[in-house]
Amino acid sequence: MSVLVILWAVGLTLQPDEMADSRAQCLVCHSGPGLTYADPDTLVRNLSVAAEAVFADWNAHRDVSCVECHLDLADPTDPRVAATGHVPDPIVPANELEQAIAKKRGPGSLAALRGCGECHPEQRDGWQRSIHARAIVESRVTGPGSAAPPTCVECHGAHEIRMGSDPQSPVSLHHSPALCMGCHADQRIVGTFQTSVHGQKHSLTGLDREVGVAVCASCHGAHEILGAGDPGSRLSLGIG
Ligand code: HEC
Ligand code: HEC
Ligand code: HEC
Ligand code: HEC
Ligand code: HEC
Ligand code: HEC
Repeated sequence: MSVLVILWAVGLTLQPDEMADSRAQCLVCHSGPGLTYADPDTLVRNLSVAAEAVFADWNAHRDVSCVECHLDLADPTDPRVAATGHVPDPIVPANELEQAIAKKRGPGSLAALRGCGECHPEQRDGWQRSIHARAIVESRVTGPGSAAPPTCVECHGAHEIRMGSDPQSPVSLHHSPALCMGCHADQRIVGTFQTSVHGQKHSLTGLDREVGVAVCASCHGAHEILGAGDPGSRLSLGIG
């Protein structure tokens, strides 16, 4: 695909004030479907970013630039960027969790996740103490139907993050049980939730926090989720 064709496509989808945004310079190459790149280790990655989602009203990060998350890449207005769009300045892992992320997902991914944490330190600190982060360090994937332990991206997404109050957000009250159950498909948990008063209220009332319906995160928390046997778990205090 020629660069000219891509430029033409971006010109059609971006408004004039958006073209003036430094992000437009990244989107010249990264917008549009089907842009993939095969790593030396043959992992094929999707490099397409939907330009219309980046600037959409519903996007919680519509005012956040690419390089505020992608901390390893220089601002496109930096003259050094002209040739390739990239001046990678790899992030050095600061602890065993970051080492595990850099190893499994690549240094670019570590940089972007560190970006999330710099603006949302409270959620980062909680998540870093969670069993989910611990499971990344220990490479644990257990049980039927379970998936790799989640970073921010598996729960929130990367480029299309909505406010939690938006009913379409995957962490909205309405959708978050499905998000958790997507990995915790263990029949005992799903069965318990669906037959419990909480699960029944879920289907009857459409999950309204004001009527006091408990979803998974009401009891377990969202970020600092600890294991059942952990004395620090909020559930070990006898809630539920
Ligand atoms: C001239 C075209 C071009 C421009 C401009 C461009 N990119 Fe890229 N980008 C690519 C290509 C091709 C790849 C895959 C090969 C590579 O990694 O160099 C890539 C890879 C990436 C990756 C994955 C790299 C990794 O190792 O994780 C990210 C993230 C990225 N670009 C973000 C950006 C951002 C942010 C900007 C603006 C600052 C930008 N790109 C500007 C072409 C471009
Ligand atoms: C709110 C933070 C955030 C913003 C803003 C952001 N990104 Fe990303 N981006 C991420 C995260 C997180 C990932 C996924 C890393 C992963 O899956 O491990 C990602 C992945 C990517 C990838 C794929 C790289 C890969 O290794 O899979 C590209 C390309 C990319 N972003 C380009 C951009 C461009 C271009 C912009 C600006 C238009 C942008 N990003 C804005 C956080 C962000
Ligand atoms: C440059 C700072 C910045 C970066 C980097 C950043 N965010 Fe945000 N984030 C914000 C701001 C500002 C808001 C909007 C807050 C508001 O309007 O109340 C927001 C909103 C959110 C929300 C919705 C909050 C709510 O109250 O429902 C989530 C979830 C979120 N960000 C997650 C992430 C994740 C995940 C990443 C990395 C992929 C990330 N953020 C990167 C600044 C940032
Ligand atoms: C296991 C899934 C999961 C992971 C991992 C996760 N979040 Fe969340 N996040 C949620 C849920 C669920 C909510 C909604 C919480 C609620 O309704 O009380 C939320 C809410 C948020 C909010 C809105 C404010 C708040 O605390 O309610 C922000 C900001 C946020 N997350 C950022 C992040 C960042 C940054 C990361 C990575 C360090 C991250 N999250 C990792 C599930 C997750
Ligand atoms: C009313 C509160 C409550 C709700 C709602 C709830 N849980 Fe639990 N959950 C608990 C308690 C209490 C335990 C036992 C913890 C312990 O032993 O310390 C538990 C245990 C677990 C465990 C560990 C099970 C094991 O095998 O040891 C997982 C995983 C879990 N819950 C996931 C979920 C998911 C996913 C949801 C939503 C679909 C959910 N929970 C909803 C209270 C709740
Ligand atoms: C992307 C997959 C994924 C998502 C999404 C996810 N989890 Fe997990 N979760 C895991 C993995 C993997 C573990 C670690 C399992 C292990 O170590 O045996 C885990 C562990 C847990 C545990 C501890 C279980 C134990 O044995 O004590 C609880 C509780 C838990 N998650 C609750 C949640 C809740 C609540 C949500 C939604 C807010 C959620 N998870 C979302 C994959 C996920």
